[in-house]
Amino acid sequence: MTSANVPLQAPGHDGDGLCGRRIVLGVSGSIAAYKALAIASEMAAAGALIDVVLTDAAAALVTPLAFQAIVHRPVVHRLGDPSGPMGMDHVAHAHTAEALVVAPATAHVIARLALGLADDALTTTALACRAPLVVAPAMEPDMWTHPATQAHVATLTARGAVFVGPDDGRMASGKHGQGRLADPAVVVDHVRAVLGHGGPLTGRKVVVSAGPTREPIDPVRYLSNHSSGRMGYAVARAVRDRGADVVLISGPVDLAPPAAMTVVAVETARDMLDAVLTHAATADAVVMSAAVADHRPIEAAAIKLKRSAADLALALTPNPDILIALGAEFPRWSEDKRGRPYVRVGFAAETHDLVAHARDKLARKSVDLIVANPVPETFGGRNSSATFVTPDAVAPLGERSKDGVASAIADWIAQRLADML
Ligand code: CTP
Repeated sequence: MTSANVPLQAPGHDGDGLCGRRIVLGVSGSIAAYKALAIASEMAAAGALIDVVLTDAAAALVTPLAFQAIVHRPVVHRLGDPSGPMGMDHVAHAHTAEALVVAPATAHVIARLALGLADDALTTTALACRAPLVVAPAMEPDMWTHPATQAHVATLTARGAVFVGPDDGRMASGKHGQGRLADPAVVVDHVRAVLGHGGPLTGRKVVVSAGPTREPIDPVRYLSNHSSGRMGYAVARAVRDRGADVVLISGPVDLAPPAAMTVVAVETARDMLDAVLTHAATADAVVMSAAVADHRPIEAAAIKLKRSAADLALALTPNPDILIALGAEFPRWSEDKRGRPYVRVGFAAETHDLVAHARDKLARKSVDLIVANPVPETFGGRNSSATFVTPDAVAPLGERSKDGVASAIADWIAQRLADML
């Protein structure tokens, strides 16, 4: 921590939970094996150290050299090859792995993992490995739904394995059904979540709001704003990656739901208020990053408003302020040591007098931290130059990506909870 309580960050990877982590990527012989290159590439770009272990069938589909070019490390294909990366130490990678990811996992590999067979480099590594297992199946839909496969999936799930997919869609055979490998980004998102287990927010519940709200004018029109939801989604992932149980309360956005968290979809400010109050009652921390519409039409028309040549005045009424309502409903920790949620974080987007407005919101909205952003610079961009404003400090974070700001917020919450309780 710096003197102003802003968490320091390793440069380059925005506090990404994959940075510097050792992952074994096991690839088996589905035609989707080529997508494992994208999984390896995404994890390598995040700074992970990846040991790839291929089955014979996988190596017949995608060459070890292709993986090696991406992960910049020797690739394991055969056991007992004295010139190979493991030499005679056939379980070397099992002992250094922090997660074992099998993607794609064929029906055959899933069966062997469930039965504890160890007849090639991948299954031998898996049997010797005690790190969390993430399995992304890919196979013909009839193989996936077969009771034998489902029994093996149940066995592995009971042992703690995390299954990602398979997805519904068109198979390489031309058939449609459930059997496609999950999207590489989704597989990697699950790996990040698994790596977060045991992190500084383990056992904590964090509620995060994100995106805009929509306030209906009539059945086909609404008032809203341009919030993309990216900041809130990044915060939800960052606290998840530090071990928190996350409830993400999201207005309508064009983003995929993050892995391994509860996502509550809402439309209006009043829906969001209900959801936040319900989940905040048992939360350790709440982060309100949603851009709540300040006003709504006094009454939404029941039928579509028809075009007319005359001017149309829309009568608006203020929406409830969710942070103020939270403060009224739940006493703060400083007033009552049982006062959940213990930590409350708000945002402020300001065109001028950033710190003065942030300080005003800090007091008025009864929050512990305001993340103040200058607008319009921050809108829609990947980066932001946020400032942390607390009752006793003002700490500019400098220019960071939204993921980098989210990591700093997650670290701040973890530190604050650790200091409090
Ligand atoms: N917020 C809220 N409920 C609302 C509006 C905003 O909880 N009805 C929260 C936001 O999620 C954010 C913080 O309050 O964390 C500040 O949002 P902002 O829109 O900057 O605040 P306003 O009170 O609307 O202030 P302004 O006068 O600057 O619009």
